[in-house]
Amino acid sequence: MTADFTEHLTAQAARIEQALNALLVPDALEGEVRRADRLLAAMRYAALGGGKRLRPVLVLETARLFGRSDDGVAMAGAALECVHCYSLVHDDLPAMDDDNLRRGRPTAHKAFDEATAILAGDGLLTLAFDAIAQEAVHPDARVRLALSRDLARAAGLGGMAGGQMLDLESEHRDRTEAEIRTLQAMKTGALLRYACRAGVILADASDEDVARMTRFGEVIGLAFQLADDLLDVEASPDAMGKATGKDAEAGKATLVGLLGREATRAELNTLLSEAQAMLAPFGAKAERLSALARFVVERKN
Ligand code: IPE
Ligand code: IPE
Ligand code: MG
Ligand code: MG
Ligand code: MG
Repeated sequence: MTADFTEHLTAQAARIEQALNALLVPDALEGEVRRADRLLAAMRYAALGGGKRLRPVLVLETARLFGRSDDGVAMAGAALECVHCYSLVHDDLPAMDDDNLRRGRPTAHKAFDEATAILAGDGLLTLAFDAIAQEAVHPDARVRLALSRDLARAAGLGGMAGGQMLDLESEHRDRTEAEIRTLQAMKTGALLRYACRAGVILADASDEDVARMTRFGEVIGLAFQLADDLLDVEASPDAMGKATGKDAEAGKATLVGLLGREATRAELNTLLSEAQAMLAPFGAKAERLSALARFVVERKN
């Protein structure tokens, strides 16, 4: 990673932090009765001050590629990050992966308690739809509606939550490569696909560009989970800010487990080339997005 890219990533992440902070304030909004202090504290704990912010930064960068970079885009990115943070809080619960460390700190249910962590997840998921409905996101209510519907589909039954179900059902069971690819496209791929797709929709790009960048998001999604599974085998908890070696321990069905590390690394390189080829028509304008694709593949945390 070049110093310029790292600096840019940090600045974009700071924009997202700011948007999240603006959402997670104590004052009740119109239609709310009161914001519960402990729930707000748990939601702030789960959403602020950590994480790579990869999904919202992908929203910002894809929108920028098609000419939009105002704060409405950051709000849409923050909405997606709320869904992601909720998914992490629930993923770490004792009933799921039972993890104690996340983003280098105690997981939400350790810092608070299980019931509060469950509610913080509920609160973040619903807050996402409040955020994506904000007028600043897009002046046309039909576009906001389409983005909300797509987010629901990426997060829910046929997306992330469904993928988490398949992931749990696959523990200590033989799964075919196709089955693992499907579960990964759902549990992780769906939100990353949405990130790239939403950015293009926010910028009012053509259907062809939406389709191209949606495919780009699918490639990034697969690469992201392959890298996560590889890091689970190869990296240290210190570097990752979360426990490692968990997949083998829990008997998770992963492609690293099935195909091995070498084949996984080779596939990651192929996916990076594919992603970069999809950006080729945009030339130098897509440099940052291309660097982001490389970051997904080569990241160390
Ligand atoms: C971790 O996602 C969870 C998976 C989907 C594998 P990230 O690696 O993007 O986590 P943060 O947001 O940077 O903590
Ligand atoms: C979780 O995948 C994906 C989510 C939907 C949160 P993992 O269980 O592999 O994520 P980590 O490794 O705990 O971050
Ligand atoms: Mg999990
Ligand atoms: Mg986990
Ligand atoms: Mg993992």
